[in-house]
Amino acid sequence: MATLPSRDDKFSFGLWTIGYNGTDPFGGPTRPHLDVVEAVAGLAEAGAYGLTFHDDDLFAFGSTNAARQSEIDRLKQALADTGLIVPMVTTNLFSAPIFKDGGFTSNDRAVRRFALRKVLRNLDLAAELGAKTFVMWGGREGAEYDPAKDIRSALERYREAVNLLGDYVTDKGYDIRFAIEPKPNEPRGDILLPTLGHAMAFIETLERPELVGVNPEVGHEQMAGLNFAAGIAQALYQGKLFHIDLNGQRGIKYDQDLVFGHGDLYNAFALVDLLENGGPDGGPSYDGPRHFDYKPSRTEDLDGVWASVSANMRNYLLFKERAAAFRADPEVLAALEASRVPELSQPTLSPGESCDDLLADRSAYEEFDADGYFGARGFGFVRLQQLATEHLLGAR
Ligand code: GCO
Ligand code: MN
Ligand code: MN
Repeated sequence: MATLPSRDDKFSFGLWTIGYNGTDPFGGPTRPHLDVVEAVAGLAEAGAYGLTFHDDDLFAFGSTNAARQSEIDRLKQALADTGLIVPMVTTNLFSAPIFKDGGFTSNDRAVRRFALRKVLRNLDLAAELGAKTFVMWGGREGAEYDPAKDIRSALERYREAVNLLGDYVTDKGYDIRFAIEPKPNEPRGDILLPTLGHAMAFIETLERPELVGVNPEVGHEQMAGLNFAAGIAQALYQGKLFHIDLNGQRGIKYDQDLVFGHGDLYNAFALVDLLENGGPDGGPSYDGPRHFDYKPSRTEDLDGVWASVSANMRNYLLFKERAAAFRADPEVLAALEASRVPELSQPTLSPGESCDDLLADRSAYEEFDADGYFGARGFGFVRLQQLATEHLLGAR
């Protein structure tokens, strides 16, 4: 199987990822600014199909209309020259001082109105560029101190904002859906909608829930100690996986934004297996962009940045290859059967069986050998995991 990326793989990168200049809370830039035209050309050459960006990545906050338009024109020309597309656009509601207490949920109503205007303007640009997904990452929507934020009012304002945006794209006839990106903390001490579970529950309260899904990020769920692949399975189950941010994270700590595969290897393997083989008849379960939201480490030079771009895509393809081998291995199939994994898809009651029927079924309870589970009847999950490990390590 090919481990060289092609456009059919739908790999996309944020302009802020490859454009990250190394600034962190402890030090300034370690690399020069990467121009958008160079970014597009480099991504096209590396085998990606898409570029994504925040408004402020392309033109500085507060740019004049002319300066803004000139950057948009340069981007459009670069896209036309390379055939790269813009599958997703997002708005920066976190960098400028005005957003220090958030955008949609700032305690300051005037800031909330400004944030909405900034997003509406950027939605027009997203539609103009043909983006199908509009991500909303609310990094500043939160608080450090409990008395500082009325959470129920904040959720109500968030809801008001997303409802308004849903009305706007509907009235304009834009073919755009929204994807909320959860994160537990950083930059705020606590962020609203901290996990994908919180986000999916919130989406159900919206006026147009069908327009809104999630954009989960590997590291964000793992920062909360959660199982990313399992969360993605639930997002798929609920029809809410509209977009995905791939990267690497090693445990519960700050948002590391490592290359995809440079964090929790097992969970990355399980994730790619789910995305590529978890659909009907063992096909893909997700057909959207495979979007990398990582930061090339500040120790790297520009060559290192491009090496990390390739590493993200290559790792994804290696996981895909390993997962295909895992699924095709007869020993794995037998082990899955022995572990009774397929049996879970069988309904617990028989067709037409009622609660009374179940109560009358003595074999289900009175005559059932519950003691048989003591000292016997293991499920063989360890053997299954060992087979996965051997495939992952290339030993099979
Ligand atoms: C982060 C987030 C962001 C968002 C981006 C798109 O932790 O900084 O992951 O990178 O993905 O703002 O909305
Ligand atoms: Mn992140
Ligand atoms: Mn992200």
